[in-house]
Amino acid sequence: MTGLSSLSLARLLLVAPAAVLAAVTVDVNDAASIKKAAAVVAGDLMSLYTGETPGLLPGPPPDGAYYPWTGGALWTAMLDYRSRTGDTQYDAKISEGLAWQRGQNNDYLPANWSASAGNDDQSIWAMAALLAAETGFIEPPADSLQWVTLAQNVFTEQSSTSRRVETGNCAGGLRWQIGLANNGYNYVETLASAAYADLGVRLSVQDDNNQTQIKAALDTFKFLQTKKFIDSDFNVFSGAQAQDCSQVNKVQVSLTAALALEAAALGYNATGGAAEWKDLVSGLAGRTLELFFPSGVATEIACEPSRCTTDMTFYKAYLHRAFATTIAAAPYTAGHVLPVLKLSAAAAVKTCTGGANKRMCDSVWSGGSSGMTGAGQQMSVLSALLSILPAEHETAGDNNNPTSSTGGGNATNSQGASAAGSAKPSTTPGSSAGASTAVSGAVLLGSLLLAVGILN
Ligand SMILES: *[C@@H]1O[C@H](CO)[C@@H](O)[C@H](O)[C@H]1NC(C)=O
Ligand SMILES: *[C@@H]1O[C@H](CO)[C@@H](O)[C@H](O)[C@H]1NC(C)=O
Ligand SMILES: *[C@@H]1O[C@H](CO)[C@@H](O)[C@H](O)[C@H]1NC(C)=O
Ligand SMILES: *[C@@H]1O[C@H](CO)[C@@H](O)[C@H](O)[C@H]1NC(C)=O
Repeated sequence: MTGLSSLSLARLLLVAPAAVLAAVTVDVNDAASIKKAAAVVAGDLMSLYTGETPGLLPGPPPDGAYYPWTGGALWTAMLDYRSRTGDTQYDAKISEGLAWQRGQNNDYLPANWSASAGNDDQSIWAMAALLAAETGFIEPPADSLQWVTLAQNVFTEQSSTSRRVETGNCAGGLRWQIGLANNGYNYVETLASAAYADLGVRLSVQDDNNQTQIKAALDTFKFLQTKKFIDSDFNVFSGAQAQDCSQVNKVQVSLTAALALEAAALGYNATGGAAEWKDLVSGLAGRTLELFFPSGVATEIACEPSRCTTDMTFYKAYLHRAFATTIAAAPYTAGHVLPVLKLSAAAAVKTCTGGANKRMCDSVWSGGSSGMTGAGQQMSVLSALLSILPAEHETAGDNNNPTSSTGGGNATNSQGASAAGSAKPSTTPGSSAGASTAVSGAVLLGSLLLAVGILN
């Protein structure tokens, strides 16, 4: 309950549900308005993608601000944008980027950056490819592997003992770095494990509910909980040294919590609501909401209000998207979660007043400003907007929703839906009653209390 003691009702009431984005007004309760704003933010995001190296944002440092993983984050956000809005204008770039970076072994470890890659980086790309399959994005040419196969290759590699700690108290743990010589090889990382679990659940759904993959995902959660990387209050910590995993590094970042939550919500759905998965969803949703939305607005608590690293400016995109997935896959959470996402998205858009065009976004949404603009800032605001968009079936006759969180569809039959962006699961299933009204501070406070009380 600690988050609530710092919750200021007065502050909540100051945040209006509508916000101004340069010339565009965003009404967070109006889908058309949200789409319009998302189109502007997406356009400004893509203006930062030069395509000099296909698939990657300019970098890595010192040649540009961005590490290779952010390319995977970019295509994930743009696929989500495409499937929720039906805007297909970026299809060629998405397709080229995802294909270019798949690497000579079809496992998202291209020679250019594989030496410095972590299991987490590889998974970020695999999750992007998997989202392409799930949303019915156009598949690569027939002589190339399909998106889902690329993701499966990554999962298979990360399942192998060569990526894991072999002996001792931490045996079985997924290492952070892949290369033996890298700093971080001897670190067992929660982020990599959460991403692996996320891939496992989603691949299971794509593979006719293959029990091998979903069991690997559940085992991963059991490992994380046994080693106290996820504690009994559902704090999601960073990881520990591979030697024995005894000293847990207690830094908490929203990206890690987000991927754990997304995996849990999709596992809950894939199992038809199994109790062990529901415990994870309720615990992770409640604690993540409390910790990373301290005033109802997404906050990267490990670095704000000080300046966050460039990497950290991307995390809120995953945070918002994970909650959108949670609402769809575990609809019982929607009444508590959606009002918070709306408040957060409204606050996010209000920061988009920077840069030469006077509408580039900031990474600090809860008051004050970092004064920095960039791809992470644009992407996070974009995903915040997408997370509150009700799903609309853009493609006529697309009655076999290919998204993993519905528990149906697969990569093969999803191709037919590729023409105009296919359906995503509803972000407002059933529960839209409380959420479709304007977000008021009072409603939100009630929601947070319920969230903490009920979800936990
Ligand atoms: C690898 O680097 C070369 C040289 O900069 C570039 O042309 C190529 O596109 C890069 N490939 C990938 C997969 O990033
Ligand atoms: C996936 O698609 C293939 C080919 O259309 C089909 O045989 C299979 O039954 C489908 N699986 C699911 C879960 O829909
Ligand atoms: C299930 O997944 C495992 C691991 O990826 C694979 O080896 C196995 O062939 C799959 N089983 C079925 C029935 O597809
Ligand atoms: C699984 O997701 C679908 C689609 O969002 C939803 O209708 C269904 O209720 C979910 N299942 C459970 C057990 O909540």
